[in-house]
Amino acid sequence: MQQPWSIYLLAIFMLGLDSKLVGQAFQPEFAEPLMNLTVPVGRDATFRCLVHNLGGYRVGWVKADTKAIQAIHVHVITNNHRVAVSHNGQTIWNLHIRNVQEEDRGQYMCQINTDPMKSQMGYLEVVVPPDFVSEETSGDMMVPEGGTAKVSCRAKGVPEPRVMWRREDGADIVLRDANGVKTKVDVYEAEVLTLAKISRSDMGAYLCIASNGVPPTVSKRIIIKVHFHPVIQIPNQLVGAPLGTDVTLECYVESSPKSINYWVRDSNEMVISSSKYEVVNTVISSFESRMALTVRGLTATDVGGYRCVAKNSLGEVDSVIRLYEIPGPSIKNTSATGKKEEYKYSTPIEGPDNQFGSADRSDDEDEKETVMDVTDTVENMVKTNRNRTINYTQLNSIHEHKLSNKVRKIINKFEIDETFTNSSSELHSSIHALIVVILVLYSNAHCTLSL
Ligand SMILES: *[C@@H]1O[C@H](CO)[C@@H](O)[C@H](O)[C@H]1NC(C)=O
Ligand SMILES: *[C@@H]1O[C@H](CO)[C@@H](O)[C@H](O)[C@H]1NC(C)=O
Ligand SMILES: *[C@@H]1O[C@H](CO)[C@@H](O)[C@H](O)[C@H]1NC(C)=O
Ligand SMILES: *[C@@H]1O[C@H](CO)[C@@H](O)[C@H](O)[C@H]1NC(C)=O
Ligand SMILES: *[C@@H]1O[C@H](CO)[C@@H](O)[C@H](O)[C@H]1NC(C)=O
Repeated sequence: MQQPWSIYLLAIFMLGLDSKLVGQAFQPEFAEPLMNLTVPVGRDATFRCLVHNLGGYRVGWVKADTKAIQAIHVHVITNNHRVAVSHNGQTIWNLHIRNVQEEDRGQYMCQINTDPMKSQMGYLEVVVPPDFVSEETSGDMMVPEGGTAKVSCRAKGVPEPRVMWRREDGADIVLRDANGVKTKVDVYEAEVLTLAKISRSDMGAYLCIASNGVPPTVSKRIIIKVHFHPVIQIPNQLVGAPLGTDVTLECYVESSPKSINYWVRDSNEMVISSSKYEVVNTVISSFESRMALTVRGLTATDVGGYRCVAKNSLGEVDSVIRLYEIPGPSIKNTSATGKKEEYKYSTPIEGPDNQFGSADRSDDEDEKETVMDVTDTVENMVKTNRNRTINYTQLNSIHEHKLSNKVRKIINKFEIDETFTNSSSELHSSIHALIVVILVLYSNAHCTLSL
């Protein structure tokens, strides 16, 4: 009850002698608080100070942290020419800051020159959209398989941006710890992405995305290439066709950097496209391709081994497909295509680069094998093979079984090592290969049982 009186008396006492102000029954008052402003850098900001009963007093603007007077009444004081003032009658007083910069951030005070002066404050927040710090942001990268790729994206902005990683193709990011334990995430949030024990399936474009709620969000594309020794997979190692038909042999190659792929016959002559042969290389992905060799109008001289060879800067691998004749015209256009259910793995037996499987296999070890079934089939074949003719139908069926990678490698090593010069030595080596397979399968089975 006392306060209005004391203010009134104080005002009369202080201002009473000023004839201009004698009519002022009331002191000026702020009609509403000064709003806090949040403005992206480069835009304009306006503080609005609402005053009642200004009378003969004046409104001034001060930047609180630097105490720099911005404006008094209708005059701009600061030499910052981005600052302007405007007013609407005696009530609305505006401070305009054009093309806001980060140094404009801070508390602004609207003052009335009463005694004591009256003031209120509002905060100008200047927000800055994210931007990458190029010195701390990785470029494209090449890593040997099994190595570690560490890519970073450092982003600045106000507020502090969040940085996250995604794969451009939408696949999961695979993180492996020191023990090789994998964690799959679709989004990884951190400035640094470390891909330890990197696999070829991790190869590709990664996007780092920085956002802080201030548009625009920015992203950077970083390509991680994983280098490894080439690997060949063969759907069908033995391909039979009747004379006169067209037959296609195929090899699937995984290689990075890209390999040079070609076909070689037993005689070591390279197979090139001609009226007899059609050689086609098809790119499947950044590191996978399909080699297809079509032999047109099969003749007796076309029968034999065909090696597909893949060579890159890290090494070379080859694998043999044997083409044989099926008697009779009943089978038309035998082709290896379309039977992709099982691949044989042709990895080089020696060399340090050969410790990794293929993309679709490397992560899925411990396939459950029908080991005993295969063993039986192979066993029967050899037993019933006393008259020294291989039943290729039967042999093909074995290749369609689920062989373990180890067995595949052994079969394959065999066929790389052997040179088939005529059907008799071919037969011998086939039988030899089968015996090795049986030994391996038996020892596997034995191990499994004794465990
Ligand atoms: C402005 O922000 C300050 C703290 O940052 C707060 O205390 C004040 O109430 C805000 N003003 C308005 C009008 O919201
Ligand atoms: C082989 O297949 C092609 C097309 O698939 C066909 O045009 C051609 O006549 C076939 N040849 C024989 C011998 O069946
Ligand atoms: C041995 O060869 C004959 C034809 O000469 C064939 O009929 C028979 O099935 C063969 N035996 C086996 C076990 O393949
Ligand atoms: C080869 O094996 C298949 C399947 O086991 C059998 O159907 C076929 O009769 C055999 N052919 C010969 C010539 O023994
Ligand atoms: C091909 O096989 C025959 C027996 O059928 C053998 O006498 C000859 O030495 C073999 N040729 C080669 C190059 O091994």
